[in-house]
Amino acid sequence: MSADLKLLQPVKIGSIDMPNRMVMAPMTRSRASADGVPNKLVAEYYWQRAGAGLIISEGAFPSAMGKGYVRTPGIHTEEQTAAWSNVTNAVQGAGGRMFCQIMHAGRISHPSLLPGGATPVAPSAVTPQGQVYTDNGMLDYETPRALETEEIASIVAEYAHATSCALDAGFDGVELHSASGYLPEQFLSSSTNLRSDGYGGSVANRARFPLEALDAMIDVAGADRVGIKIAPEMGFNDISDANPRETYSYLVDQLERRGIAYLHVARFPGEVDYFELLRPRFSGSFLAGVGLTRDSGEALLRENVADAAVFGQLFIANPDLPERFRRGSELNTADPDTFYSPGPEGYIDYPPL
Ligand SMILES: Cc1cc2nc3c(=O)[nH]c(=O)nc-3n(C[C@H](O)[C@H](O)[C@H](O)COP(=O)(O)O)c2cc1C
Repeated sequence: MSADLKLLQPVKIGSIDMPNRMVMAPMTRSRASADGVPNKLVAEYYWQRAGAGLIISEGAFPSAMGKGYVRTPGIHTEEQTAAWSNVTNAVQGAGGRMFCQIMHAGRISHPSLLPGGATPVAPSAVTPQGQVYTDNGMLDYETPRALETEEIASIVAEYAHATSCALDAGFDGVELHSASGYLPEQFLSSSTNLRSDGYGGSVANRARFPLEALDAMIDVAGADRVGIKIAPEMGFNDISDANPRETYSYLVDQLERRGIAYLHVARFPGEVDYFELLRPRFSGSFLAGVGLTRDSGEALLRENVADAAVFGQLFIANPDLPERFRRGSELNTADPDTFYSPGPEGYIDYPPL
């Protein structure tokens, strides 16, 4: 029975041959240094999970201004790049494959996290409701500075630079983080983009920045090594769009023309079932995630809703998740108290079978 699991059958995604269809979701774990350098623990954590068909790294910032949380890693300096190459060597040495998720947090940040106490940047000066975790405890978000039109090209160039660092570090490809209320989604969404230049207003204008960032990544890595993550109607980080069906249909039609490796959709309950809406619009590989189990992930593949299933918390708690699925074994449960805490506890100490 288990041997027949579609989850455990090989698939090609972009230029990547995956031995199974189980993808480890990008997950921030906050174990890097203050300079955004991932240490040995990080290499060990990902190495333990190399049995995944594909690992997508935690979000890594493409410039110091893109950092959104304490102890998150970057992918733009030589030191960060060298440290990530230890991670990819460990994963690939164990037979795995790994993409780097490039994440610019935009307004979901705080001056205490940014160079010289700078104000976070965003498409518009719209203050996020809520609080940010800093070294001085929880603080309210501040009003971001709206980017000047002329500045935007330099942020797009940061995505290209980060992509070339990621390839230098040995990653197999890169994923644009265009979900969870960070910079690309801030441009895409009507609640956070009040611009009147070519980057705001119509859907085509709001989608311009994420697509330019993606194109910059494609120019460096090639389309078959680039993916994108979206999470329509997730609402995380105080973001919303007036017409998400229209916005995401447009975005995905543009993705379709680019021939990228995959579209990764984190599905949340809302007006629309985004697997139903978007799968038919996109002929590349479709990665589906959020709340999946062995059975529900398997069903998505069997019903041809997706080509691969993305697992987050299950991979945190079960480093050998594919093997556990194969054997139908019991699963460990993830402990949220150690998701973002420093150190090995709750990070590299979940027991394999
Ligand atoms: C601890 C933690 C950190 C996360 N960090 C990120 C991140 O850096 N980038 C991202 O795109 N999603 C992030 N997510 C969301 C996951 O990628 C995934 O969409 C989510 O966990 C739902 O999948 P699951 O139900 O299988 O856990 C994070 C989730 C968790 C639990």
